[in-house]
Amino acid sequence: MAEYNLAIIAGDGIGIEVMEEALKVLSVLEEHENDFKLNIEKFPWNSDYYLAHGRMMPEDGLETLRNFDAILFGAIGDVRVPDNVTVWELIMPIRKQFQQYVNFRPVKTLPGISSPLRNGENIDLVIFRENSEGEYSDSGGRLFESQSTELAVQNTIMTRAGIEKITRAACEYAVSTGRKKVTSATKSNAVTHALKLWDEHVKRVVTEEFSELEFESNYIDALVAYFVQRPQSFEVVVASNLFGDILSDLGSGIVGGLGLSPSANINPERNYPSMFEPVHGSAPDIAGKGIANPIAQIWSAALMMEHLGRRDLSLKIVQAIEEVLFEKKVITADIGGNATTSQMGSAIMEKIKEQYITEKMGSLIHGTN
Ligand code: NAI
Ligand code: MG
Repeated sequence: MAEYNLAIIAGDGIGIEVMEEALKVLSVLEEHENDFKLNIEKFPWNSDYYLAHGRMMPEDGLETLRNFDAILFGAIGDVRVPDNVTVWELIMPIRKQFQQYVNFRPVKTLPGISSPLRNGENIDLVIFRENSEGEYSDSGGRLFESQSTELAVQNTIMTRAGIEKITRAACEYAVSTGRKKVTSATKSNAVTHALKLWDEHVKRVVTEEFSELEFESNYIDALVAYFVQRPQSFEVVVASNLFGDILSDLGSGIVGGLGLSPSANINPERNYPSMFEPVHGSAPDIAGKGIANPIAQIWSAALMMEHLGRRDLSLKIVQAIEEVLFEKKVITADIGGNATTSQMGSAIMEKIKEQYITEKMGSLIHGTN
């Protein structure tokens, strides 16, 4: 029996709503697969938990999570708690302590979804964002607070090892999926120390270790314009923490919005669990209304199944999402319809059930059962 131990952190706002739909979809897989079991444990670590306990997760929270095969995360953020607290006491410790230095963010045109770009067809690129250091290193401080002389220092920390690791992950993915080109996002003309180091080692790793790949490097300001003008010319983009964060929201914007964008925080060495979460946040503007699009969350669960070695199940989920979008019968408000979160989740669940019925019929007809 293949068993997978999953930690579920739904978080705040729509995180809670979309997670319910992802769990519905996972339970359909469990129902229909032989020898497949998901041991699911839910953790109520969110802003309510913070208000009750004064911390986002228990002191031994990371030790608890460490024993799981993967973490499925919703979104965090609540007006009653400062955003830097929710982010830095829950998401960042998980990403950093579990060495999830790869943030994998696919940007892909989906059937039935029109891009706001006039030339937005057939976009299919992947962003590899460095996820553990760089601009989000939380290094620095403030002096003379509230005085006219106050100042802040924020350090960017780039390491050769960190740059090499994210570049290798991007290149290995490119090679294994038949992609031909890797693009580096930089701004070394202005950020002359950290990003010069970035340039040198990204280029060295790609050209020396992956000579079959084409390499290009673009300044981030030009790159954002190219993302709008000719997004089809990118295959794999490797970027620092900040640049990758911004590029991936732009990426989700050009293929239909945050409701459709999944991501994976991966520890490639598998020494620690990896974490899968939508790109979007807790969306306080629509939270509680039951209208959030659960696709980003459900697709994140598909990325998780792939990471756990179940590409077959990942493909089932993604196919079901594509079928629902193609049919355009059940569409949430963010992509132009009026379906609820739960109706969208159920529609995807039904498509997966149909796939199992079709498979079963096929094996009965061909006598392989
Ligand atoms: P957001 O992603 O929550 O929302 C941005 C806009 O996109 C809103 O108009 C929202 O309604 C819409 N949107 C997002 N996801 C959607 C979905 N699934 N379906 C339909 N519409 C969707 O980002 P925002 O407003 O900047 O931040 C809100 C809170 O979320 C803040 O507290 C922020 O710190 C937190 N946040 C948390 C993240 C995480 O948990 N990883 C990531 C980004 C923000
Ligand atoms: Mg972001």
